[in-house]
Amino acid sequence: KKVYLNGTIVDRENAQISVFDRGFIFGDGIYEVMVQINGRFFYEAVHLARLDACLKKINIEFEVERLKNAIPKLLEASELTDKDCLLYIQVTRGVAPRQHSFPKNIEPTVMMYAQAKKLPDINTVNASVLTLKDFRWSRCDIKMTSLLGNVMANEQAMQNDRYEALLVRNGIITEASHCNVFFVKDKVVYTHPANEFILDGITRQIVLEICRALNLEVREEGIPLNRISEMDEAFLTGTSTQIASIRQIDDHYFYDGSNIGELTKKLQSEFFKLKN
Ligand code: PDD
Repeated sequence: KKVYLNGTIVDRENAQISVFDRGFIFGDGIYEVMVQINGRFFYEAVHLARLDACLKKINIEFEVERLKNAIPKLLEASELTDKDCLLYIQVTRGVAPRQHSFPKNIEPTVMMYAQAKKLPDINTVNASVLTLKDFRWSRCDIKMTSLLGNVMANEQAMQNDRYEALLVRNGIITEASHCNVFFVKDKVVYTHPANEFILDGITRQIVLEICRALNLEVREEGIPLNRISEMDEAFLTGTSTQIASIRQIDDHYFYDGSNIGELTKKLQSEFFKLKN
């Protein structure tokens, strides 16, 4: 019910920004989502470092350090201190008369809110997903607020009763509308390299770390759409998705019923351990 806006905490109804905010006009801003689990933010420093890196990529000047004091205050005001919750952070370039290029001497607009959210210990979803052309731009590494491409892709998934949309660029599966995608084939774990065609998810990074700790072979290679049927397992990763098994891609089934692949299950249980 509370919102942090530019240094103060206000009631949600009173959290107001100008219609000339470039976040509103252009989607000119960066966001971050992280979750508090068992009284601490899960990989907080890594999330804040990605926020900082993305702000630098688009030349928004803001000291991410300043959030470190503000977050506990927001949680307290929201009666969420130590509770399982999700924190949304957004920093836009700020308010200025509409012009495409970056205005000079502009103050960023900084907004955060927290909401109660209890993630399951282990995600039991066994998702059916579809594939779609990745019609987004070529800087998907920037976690920007202009998510129209992702929103349209996710909407198509929902319209077809699918959990997610896997995006295909030049025949290669990049990621999903709000998750990263992994495949397993002959005990080798595959995921798209962290280049400009995907968001380098924190959960993705954690899963890669777990794989290395387990001495699993990892290849950061995108899987071609026409090789899906050769794969043994597939799963999605993301902050609120955690690790979700994929049961079906388009017309291809990996498992019957609620079966989940062995490696997917192993990674899910290792991931669970990190939260405690
Ligand atoms: N989504 N790819 C895209 C396009 C994403 O939007 C996200 C995150 C991910 C996974 O990143 P991470 O593991 O750091 O959450 C991959 C967030 C949660 C969202 O938009 O709500």
